[in-house]
Amino acid sequence: MPPSLAARDPGLVEWMDREDCDPDRLRNTYRQFPRINRWVARWPALYRRRIRPVLRSIAGNERGLEGCERGQAIRLLDVGSGGGDLARALQRWGRRDGFRLEVTGIDPDPRALAYARSGIDAEPGPVVDFRQAWASDLVAAGERFHVVVSNHVLHHLPPADLRAFLADVEALATHRIVMSDIERSAVGYALFSGFASLPFFRNSYIRADGLLSIRRSFTRTELAAALPPGWQVERSFPFRLVAIRAPGP
Ligand SMILES: C[S@@+](CC[C@H](N)C(=O)[O-])C[C@H]1O[C@@H](n2cnc3c(N)ncnc32)[C@H](O)[C@@H]1O
Repeated sequence: MPPSLAARDPGLVEWMDREDCDPDRLRNTYRQFPRINRWVARWPALYRRRIRPVLRSIAGNERGLEGCERGQAIRLLDVGSGGGDLARALQRWGRRDGFRLEVTGIDPDPRALAYARSGIDAEPGPVVDFRQAWASDLVAAGERFHVVVSNHVLHHLPPADLRAFLADVEALATHRIVMSDIERSAVGYALFSGFASLPFFRNSYIRADGLLSIRRSFTRTELAAALPPGWQVERSFPFRLVAIRAPGP
């Protein structure tokens, strides 16, 4: 088992978070994220099992009450949206299923924001509202979202920041929070090391940052201990942890 770096060495920073990283390699990293997310993070299954039922229930309640007349949209927030592929996919899946979904993606890194916004003007249909912000900025602005998600963000945060981050997302979400991340394991580390050596991931930070991310990520027991009451942690294949909270109705 690779030792956890999260608690012991919060100063160790991934390449893509460094101001001096190579801009071409960074752009390639954003470009290659969708492939990693598709192959390992498996959000289509999470959407079907953990998000769509909540959207159905909100839409059903709104039809039964005055919400239909008001024509309220369902709001979904992706925190730490990076290159923007998950936020865009959720927007697409939600619309395909007939929900009037408005997706916002926030990331504090201006380079991530620039990448996520590039090409947005040419996109058909409703576009994601990408903003440069921390979760705490949205809390301060009094924003609320029915569903809040994140992918590969929890392991970035040293313990004190993680507690503050979770308090912020709890304040922002009214119906469901779904946060997916890596489960640290020796087998996962060895497999990812081989997988990320494939030519698809050339000239990017996917391999270096991915291996560091695995070392910084949690075991199931560690993540369960780091979460406040009211959360649950699920394991999913391959080497994934999903932290879920269902506040509100
Ligand atoms: C590994 S990237 C993942 C990006 C994207 N979610 C994905 O899965 O492709 C982590 C992202 O989290 C962002 N991030 C780091 N700390 C954050 C925080 N406290 N709040 C919001 N985003 C944060 C970083 O700027 C970075 O873009």
